[in-house]
Amino acid sequence: MRSSMQQCCCYLTASLLFLIVFRSPEAAAASEKEILLQFRGNITDDPYNSLISWNLNADQCRDYSGVFCDSFGNVYKIVLWNTSLAGVLSPALAELKSLRILTLFGNRFTGNIPPEFQELTTLWKINVSSNALSGRIPGFLGDLTSIRFLDLSKNQFEGQIPSSLFRICEKTKFISLSRNNLSGTIPITINNCLNIEGFDVSFNRLSGELPSQICEIPNLVYLSVRNNMLTGSVEEPISTCQRLELLDLGSNLFTGTPPFRVLELANLSYFNISYNQFDPQIDVIQTCSESLEVFDIAGNGFQGLIPMSIVTECSGLKVISMGYNRLNGEIPVEISNLKRLTVIKLGNNSINGEIPVEFGSIELLQVLDLHNLDLEGGIPESISNCRFLLELDVSGNSLQGQIPETFYNMSYLRILDLHRNNLNGTIPSTLGNLSKIQTIDLSQNSLSGSIPFSLTNLSNLNHFNVSYNNLSGQIPLFSLQSFNSSVFFNNPGLCGAPLDQSCSGDSTNSESRPKLRVPTIVAIVAASLILIGICLVTVMNLKARRRRKEEEAMIIENTPLASSDSNVIIGKLVLFSKTLPSKYEDWEAGTKALLDKDCLIGTGTIGSVYKADFEGRVSIAVKKIKALGRIKNQDEFEQEIGRLGSLRHPNLVIFQGYYWSSSMQLILTDYASNGNLYDNLHGVIYPGTSSGIRNHELNWPKRFRIALGTAKALSYIHHDCKPQILHLNLKSSNVLLDENYDPKLSDYGLVKLLPMLDNYGLTRFHNAVGYVAPELAHSMRLSDKCDVYSFGVILLELVTGRKPVESLGGSEVVVLREYVRGLIERGKASDCFDRSLSGFVDNELIQVMKLGLICTSESPLRRPSMAEVVQVLESVPSGSEIGLGPRSY
Ligand SMILES: *[C@@H]1O[C@H](CO)[C@@H](O)[C@H](O)[C@H]1NC(C)=O
Ligand SMILES: *[C@@H]1O[C@H](CO)[C@@H](O)[C@H](O)[C@H]1NC(C)=O
Ligand SMILES: *[C@@H]1O[C@H](CO)[C@@H](O)[C@H](O)[C@H]1NC(C)=O
Ligand SMILES: *[C@@H]1O[C@H](CO)[C@@H](O)[C@H](O)[C@H]1NC(C)=O
Ligand SMILES: *[C@@H]1O[C@H](CO)[C@@H](O)[C@H](O)[C@H]1NC(C)=O
Ligand SMILES: *[C@@H]1O[C@H](CO)[C@@H](O)[C@H](O)[C@H]1NC(C)=O
Ligand SMILES: *[C@@H]1O[C@H](CO)[C@@H](O)[C@H](O)[C@H]1NC(C)=O
Ligand SMILES: *[C@@H]1O[C@H](CO)[C@@H](O)[C@H](O)[C@H]1NC(C)=O
Ligand SMILES: *[C@@H]1O[C@H](CO)[C@@H](O)[C@H](O)[C@H]1NC(C)=O
Repeated sequence: MRSSMQQCCCYLTASLLFLIVFRSPEAAAASEKEILLQFRGNITDDPYNSLISWNLNADQCRDYSGVFCDSFGNVYKIVLWNTSLAGVLSPALAELKSLRILTLFGNRFTGNIPPEFQELTTLWKINVSSNALSGRIPGFLGDLTSIRFLDLSKNQFEGQIPSSLFRICEKTKFISLSRNNLSGTIPITINNCLNIEGFDVSFNRLSGELPSQICEIPNLVYLSVRNNMLTGSVEEPISTCQRLELLDLGSNLFTGTPPFRVLELANLSYFNISYNQFDPQIDVIQTCSESLEVFDIAGNGFQGLIPMSIVTECSGLKVISMGYNRLNGEIPVEISNLKRLTVIKLGNNSINGEIPVEFGSIELLQVLDLHNLDLEGGIPESISNCRFLLELDVSGNSLQGQIPETFYNMSYLRILDLHRNNLNGTIPSTLGNLSKIQTIDLSQNSLSGSIPFSLTNLSNLNHFNVSYNNLSGQIPLFSLQSFNSSVFFNNPGLCGAPLDQSCSGDSTNSESRPKLRVPTIVAIVAASLILIGICLVTVMNLKARRRRKEEEAMIIENTPLASSDSNVIIGKLVLFSKTLPSKYEDWEAGTKALLDKDCLIGTGTIGSVYKADFEGRVSIAVKKIKALGRIKNQDEFEQEIGRLGSLRHPNLVIFQGYYWSSSMQLILTDYASNGNLYDNLHGVIYPGTSSGIRNHELNWPKRFRIALGTAKALSYIHHDCKPQILHLNLKSSNVLLDENYDPKLSDYGLVKLLPMLDNYGLTRFHNAVGYVAPELAHSMRLSDKCDVYSFGVILLELVTGRKPVESLGGSEVVVLREYVRGLIERGKASDCFDRSLSGFVDNELIQVMKLGLICTSESPLRRPSMAEVVQVLESVPSGSEIGLGPRSY
């Protein structure tokens, strides 16, 4: 710190000198220029063109960057730092008769300092820090009579420190040999350097003892020997230092009495004796200077209580580091009186008791590390007052109670490590406000409830662990990062990706793994397939077809195709489910029914739907594909449907199989006996009547179940299926109702079969008027948020009983979403309610309606994810508020 200030002063003087420079005598200039060009000549790489101005025709004093001349036109200073120059140091520099300052740090010079440099008797400062110099440190540097600053740090010097380095040393103020590969001992000749203020040999492989006379140097201010293998006692040599400001003995093998006496020194601000083997007793520390800022005694095996005198005497402390010792007793509350503290590290000791509530008053605290202690009690909520906290580690204790909700107040927090405690309660969703957080480790506690979705917004989170808790519910989709399944392990109730446990519900627990099954390929025989095919064709287009497609008609006539001579392979039938009959006879019987005109149960965007009954009252729906959309061939078709066939969710219509032939494609799915939601809400329109008959059994509890079930199904295909499956054709007529009015979502994942996504133009959307998200209609931007929009419309339909778009006769059209929004804005929300509903809680309808509006927000970004929708819906019946925060609609 000190040296950089001095360096700064040098710059100042230098630039002043530079300003008052006058034109140099020609002869001297020419030869100095040659020297500089020789220096340049030994540079093999200049990646930033730092020496581009060094050319023959330029004036070295005026034009050469990094070269400074004195008033006689002689080079007195060369400063080329952080320029990544590669090459060797040219011996020619030794001929610069006035050179005082050579600052070349941050380059890639190799080799050693040339012996010629011993001629540089004017040299005052050498800084070759951060280069790649190697070999032994040249002893002649000790003969440079003028040297004040010698910085050889961060190179690859090796061998012993030559004792001659300190031979003529009276004027030297600063020597750094830090971060080389030096071995041997520190020469006792160091005490020749009577004026030395800073001595740094840290990060080498030095051994032996600290020279006993080192503190006879009266002005020693800065002494760092960190990270060596120095041994012996330091108490004696060090205690005579009078002016020390920094003492760093960290990471050596020192023994004996710890040098606490230096704490009395008036100007000592940094004291680090960590990671040594000092005697375990901490003597009573009598006085402590107010200047002391850093007190680090970690990793020594110190025993006993935390020394109170440190806490009461060293009033200026900023850093207390005492971890990795064997300290016991409680944490002194008085620590909180140290108002300048930024770091408290007490981890890995035998300290017990509680975390002092008063820590909340240490306003500037940045690091609180209390890991692996024996602490009990709760985590004080007051800690949240430490607004600048960056790291909170209280892992490995016996802390109880809840994670304080107020932690969100620590908006700079990067590390939150609470693992291995007895914390219970839920994970506060407010943790999602800690936007800077990188690590959240809550593993090995007893936390319950679900993982808040808010955490998925934390873009800097890269380490997350909640394993070994009692968490439950669906794992929210962390779209910004991908966490290994192990971070969720051992939470009995947790489900969804990346765990193998799917969230498909309680009843079908063991069967519900959405793993791709090997489809049961039942038959590749023309027989059964063509039979169905022909049946359908017959139903639809009986006369015309029969005449045109003679082969097919012929097959009908030759029905007993199971016989051996009929091996005409025309199509392929694949069944995914073992519950369906796999014998040809059954199919024959089941599909015979299709000949009955009544088995047409609907037509949709994808095609017509028929019902087929089998023996044992098994029914399936058979969908005849109208157009193949973007599907190009059989392989692609099989791949698409095969993937969908592997999905299992109680609220999904399950794909049972498919049939492919070049002329006809069928999809076999579950059959739902109560029709679709649209017909139930708005009435089946029978030909000849203008309005349909609504189903009055659809009370509010049923409607709510439909909303929730449909949301879960969508959440499943959006968040649990990898890759994600989109619906993109969601409307109430695709929500089918089973015999219990539980919803079954159909037609999902058939995007490629939708003609609208081909080059057919947008007119095909007429099927889904009112359901299509604006960005999909306008610019074909496909995302899960398109489904959220459509789902929002369904929510509004459920609450209001109105169609998404209603024509009031004439040209007037009511768009449901705008109609509801208008009424809510006018405070007349309950006017929207479906009049046919009764016996409901107003608030529930309002919440669902509001959710519907949020889902139909114009901007996809404003819409929640389906997982969030599920969470909100689940909270509705309990009467709690919609938890979506400040999103507006
Ligand atoms: C440095 O340059 C001199 C000529 O100026 C040349 O003789 C010498 O070989 C060079 N050294 C290296 C290592 O390139
Ligand atoms: C100088 O160092 C800074 C910081 O290390 C770096 O960003 C910059 O790119 C360096 N400049 C050169 C020329 O190496
Ligand atoms: C040498 O340069 C380094 C890198 O900037 C600096 O940290 C150090 O203080 C300098 N040494 C001296 C003695 O000025
Ligand atoms: C340091 O020197 C030793 C031998 O003295 C050598 O084995 C080791 O590789 C060197 N380390 C580095 C980083 O150069
Ligand atoms: C402590 O520092 C002050 C200010 O830098 C200085 O005046 C004083 O001489 C120093 N005291 C000792 C004992 O070094
Ligand atoms: C003290 O020295 C150790 C190395 O022994 C180092 O890891 C630690 O960061 C230092 N403490 C402080 C506060 O600088
Ligand atoms: C931390 O303390 C435990 C005993 O409490 C000890 O076993 C462990 O080695 C210590 N860890 C370190 C890194 O010192
Ligand atoms: C949150 O921080 C503010 C200051 O930013 C403080 O006034 C408030 O008391 C803190 N709230 C809690 C609950 O800690
Ligand atoms: C959490 O633990 C505390 C103390 O162990 C207990 O009093 C409290 O009832 C627990 N709370 C829950 C929600 O389990």
